[in-house]
Amino acid sequence: MTQTVSRPAAGAQKPPLPLDVEAIRADFPILTRTVRDGKRLVYLDSGATSQKPRSVLDAERDFYENHNAAPHRGAHQLAEEATGLYEGARARIAEFISAAVEEVVFTRNTTDAINTVAYALSNAATAKEPSFRRYAVGQGDEIVVTEMEHHANLVPWQQLCERTGATLRWLGLTDDGRLDLSDLGTVVNERTRLVAVTQQSNILGTINPLEPIVARAREVGALVLVDGAQSVPHQPVDVATLGADFLVFSGHKMLGPTGVGVLWGRYEVLDALPPFMTGGSMIEVVRMEGSTFMPPPQRFEAGVPMTAQVVGLGAAVDYLQALGMDRVQAHEEALTGYALEQLQAIPGVTVIGPPDTVARGGAISFTVEGIHPHDVGQVLDDLGIAVRVGHHCAWPVVRRYGVPATTRATFYVHTGYDDVDTLVEGVRAAQRFFGVTPEEATA
Ligand code: ALA
Repeated sequence: MTQTVSRPAAGAQKPPLPLDVEAIRADFPILTRTVRDGKRLVYLDSGATSQKPRSVLDAERDFYENHNAAPHRGAHQLAEEATGLYEGARARIAEFISAAVEEVVFTRNTTDAINTVAYALSNAATAKEPSFRRYAVGQGDEIVVTEMEHHANLVPWQQLCERTGATLRWLGLTDDGRLDLSDLGTVVNERTRLVAVTQQSNILGTINPLEPIVARAREVGALVLVDGAQSVPHQPVDVATLGADFLVFSGHKMLGPTGVGVLWGRYEVLDALPPFMTGGSMIEVVRMEGSTFMPPPQRFEAGVPMTAQVVGLGAAVDYLQALGMDRVQAHEEALTGYALEQLQAIPGVTVIGPPDTVARGGAISFTVEGIHPHDVGQVLDDLGIAVRVGHHCAWPVVRRYGVPATTRATFYVHTGYDDVDTLVEGVRAAQRFFGVTPEEATA
């Protein structure tokens, strides 16, 4: 399958950026280091994992240096302080997405959050407690995903179907990198129990229209899980207007630490689900004959939690809120518009995904004719530019567009026009290096 792209002329406009890039860069210690023999680090891989500002690093260090204890256990002062910091972060993260505090469950990451829901739905069928069987998935039921999902929002649903005998169905993609909703009415039907869809594609950058999907799911009584791994870090997301039942995202992609993510669930839905992981902290009463479980969110947080990471994520949310998520989104949109224009002006470069900024975020995947993406990545790396190459944990997407892999640049709050210019120069350098230099590329 080939892609039709427009090729705007070079000389793109650089509208003023809403964020003060130099001031923000000063907050990120890692951005002061050099790579590859003294080159400035041009970090364009925030879609894989973001860098961390000093306030996040300080919050984690302060927790370990001054407050370290297991929350929700122990009567000593440190345990009280750790509990206060952990629950305080939960409250701030809930406010960040306009959720109720008891609807925010801490997980390891997006993948963990999705598995928590998928296993709850399959465990529901055999739950001893009748109130936990309401959303059970079984033979004859259907789960709907899209062809745009990264593996975290695809493989757990494939596995759920294998465990339960349910059937996986999906919405396809259009040639210009958008969801094909033409058969929404038949793919999502009376047998659908859950629709799992990304809000923003990690590979195409597409921002999906969730309203018609949520509306159709509501018509047939299906649950909706929104994968916010690539949206929550980059745009305002408000669960009150999202209309979904679940929203999942990762801390490490939004300036926070690794090892912490969020499962937001509508309380009545969470409350009707059995636990996935079991053990300490999530129980009400334990006897040798059996146990009863706490209400959400504790029901889904077995074991001593990743407390320092949660505290770090609270600091990341504070940092993002101080910048303003509207401004973060506008910043990335300006960069994306400029980068799309510049990259598509290079002969031989094809953007895989929407060619303009309409309903699109700052993940730009592209191919360079005659050069394997891994080789493009190698040349860029030699110049100090960190991008991701490969199938980006979304193998069906590259397959859909008939390419083995792509080179992907992703932007964030510290990205400036200078980073985009360096990337564009790097792509031209790769063309020269591999001797596939169309005349215009060196003009
Ligand atoms: N899903 C992550 C990415 O897009 C790992 O790079």
